[in-house]
Amino acid sequence: MNRTPSKWRERELLQTLGSFSRAHLLRIGIRLDLFAALRRPKTANQLAQDSQLAPDLLQAWLRAAASHGLIRVVRDRDRAYEIDGLAKWLLETPDSASLTALLEETIEGYGPIFERMPDLIAGDARPEFHSPVESRRAAEVSRLVERQALSALGRIPGVRGARRLLDVGCGYGGYLVGMLRRYRDAHGIGIEQDAEVAEIAAQNLQAADLSRRSEVRVGDFMSLDLDSGSHDLILLNNNLYYFAPGIRRALFERIFSRLVPGGVLAIQTAVVSDRATARFMGLSANAAAFDLYLRAHDNLYGLPDLRELHASLLEVGFESIAEIAFLPGGSARYVWARAPRAPLAEPLV
Ligand SMILES: C[S@@+](CC[C@H](N)C(=O)[O-])C[C@H]1O[C@@H](n2cnc3c(N)ncnc32)[C@H](O)[C@@H]1O
Repeated sequence: MNRTPSKWRERELLQTLGSFSRAHLLRIGIRLDLFAALRRPKTANQLAQDSQLAPDLLQAWLRAAASHGLIRVVRDRDRAYEIDGLAKWLLETPDSASLTALLEETIEGYGPIFERMPDLIAGDARPEFHSPVESRRAAEVSRLVERQALSALGRIPGVRGARRLLDVGCGYGGYLVGMLRRYRDAHGIGIEQDAEVAEIAAQNLQAADLSRRSEVRVGDFMSLDLDSGSHDLILLNNNLYYFAPGIRRALFERIFSRLVPGGVLAIQTAVVSDRATARFMGLSANAAAFDLYLRAHDNLYGLPDLRELHASLLEVGFESIAEIAFLPGGSARYVWARAPRAPLAEPLV
């Protein structure tokens, strides 16, 4: 029998719906620069005059945002409002751009897919993921963990001494920039199948004055021509879910054959962790929703099962497989594996 009083459940439902409105109110305030304008107290009339926005809707947004604690009334007499709480923090934090991209991704990226989810689960054809806007947003969001991920990478044995790096699916090149800045005699190749994204990676490397030690190649890693046995470290950051489970063995064999003996493969992935800290921080819920979102696409394949991942790496010939977690409760990790120090008698294709 359900012992929770009905009133509590009603409250829980209203809070659940409230968090949906709250996220939208936050996005509206950021999109229209209303929070920035409310760094100093303003009345609805002043804000409407300055912004040329619809006064009635603006007034209603102010009331709603205040009721959600995103702004507060500072003068009761003429009802002036000022930015407050979460909105204030979001504007001021050093991670503001990435966290705002996360908000946009949740509403604009997840929103339409989650609306269709009942039909998708019932068997409707799944859409393809290919949106330059979403890719750009995903790249901005992934910068949130870049610093922690780079320092976790540095703790993987062999990474600090690696000189020839290969970043598969390098996105905007953040990891190449980070690695080449840290390891000054290293050289990096980024492979990116999206030409526009690759162009931005090349620009980012140039802006960081790293063009001399790097190169970005456009194409599918599975078919690009790459020298065998030529890399000390190969990275797969946040993109294993682009590779269908059926081709993962071929993917790992290809990576294995491009590593020098003793070379390292490091795979970064989010994990749906059931540890208390991960649940408390909302990281489990976030990763689980991400996994559902990925699987709802025809050309994406969900977060990997770590046990299966370890087993596939072993089958291909890797040894010393281990993990380094770098978010609370192990919600994001590197699964890394080393190729044997002596080459195999029969090299893989
Ligand atoms: C979510 S982004 C991650 C980007 C970057 N690694 C990071 O962690 O910030 C995944 C990237 O992998 C690229 N990608 C996926 N499959 C690829 C393939 N077979 N060959 C080359 N790039 C690929 C995608 O185009 C996308 O830019």
